[in-house]
Amino acid sequence: MKHFINLKDIPAKDLRKILIDAKKRKKLRKNLNFLDTDYKEPLKGKLLIQMFEKSSLRTRLSFYLAIKQLGGSALTLRPDELHLSKGGESIGDTAKILSTFGNAFMLRTDSDKKLNEFKEHLSIPIINGLSPSSHPTQILSDIFTIEEIKKKPISKLNISWIGDCNNVLNSLIAASVKFDFRLTVGCPKDYRPNSSIIKWTKECKKKIYILNNAYKAANKADVILTDKVISINDKVNKKKKLAKFKNFIISQKIISNAKDDCIFLHCLPRGDEVDEVVFNSKKSKVWQQAQNRVDVQKSILLYCFDKLR
Ligand code: CP
Ligand code: NVA
Repeated sequence: MKHFINLKDIPAKDLRKILIDAKKRKKLRKNLNFLDTDYKEPLKGKLLIQMFEKSSLRTRLSFYLAIKQLGGSALTLRPDELHLSKGGESIGDTAKILSTFGNAFMLRTDSDKKLNEFKEHLSIPIINGLSPSSHPTQILSDIFTIEEIKKKPISKLNISWIGDCNNVLNSLIAASVKFDFRLTVGCPKDYRPNSSIIKWTKECKKKIYILNNAYKAANKADVILTDKVISINDKVNKKKKLAKFKNFIISQKIISNAKDDCIFLHCLPRGDEVDEVVFNSKKSKVWQQAQNRVDVQKSILLYCFDKLR
């Protein structure tokens, strides 16, 4: 049994194994319906319990389909219907019951501490479906999408992130160490990446290029990624923060400094960080990116169950 909480804590070879498995499985599913199961139903009889303390569309649907395609089933709990959220039951007791009735637990939460407390008390795998500090399932899936489109290992590509330095970027930074690719971050001076993750990259002897100019950050990029400036439950002064990012809205001018065949990715949902022209252009692969979440999460589930081929 394995947990999937942070990319930085998962061996690089296991992350690569997940991507290889996802590629093989995706290929075998051509012409199948959403609910048709994979050959041999490797997770037959298994129940994934998922709980979202924050909104979700893609992660919710893709984990549901992922476990179903592997032969198992999913149950989504509403946090407001549990005793836990009203303080009437501890995380420890809740975790014990989840481990009694289910085989894996996927949690989207506003608290990294809660995620780790669940991990301590569960005897089943826990998957981080987004926390304040990371969004690992998203980024692993994005690496899959990048390699699928570019048809080469990500280590041979220039990746640029232009926008807010948030949970999704933290996972991308962790991925840049694990998969060894060149990562440039374009962000305003006052909104630089989290210092503890940068400290970790230095310990790993990895250099991340941080520029406070969006145009320069796009230079020679094979891939440009971004995310909302205002994340879910972000308790910042929205007007002030958005004003700081006004020169970081991804436009054709910024993209023109990237390689000709550069692609644009966004985990979605979107705000105003990318203009309509870029978002709707041929370079934008956001729908393929969203769809791949199912394929990669299937292999993440198999990894957690020690069932990767
Ligand atoms: N990208 C992503 O995680 O989307 P949701 O918030 O809709 O799950
Ligand atoms: N950074 C965003 C990602 C949403 C998928 C958030 O945390 O809201």
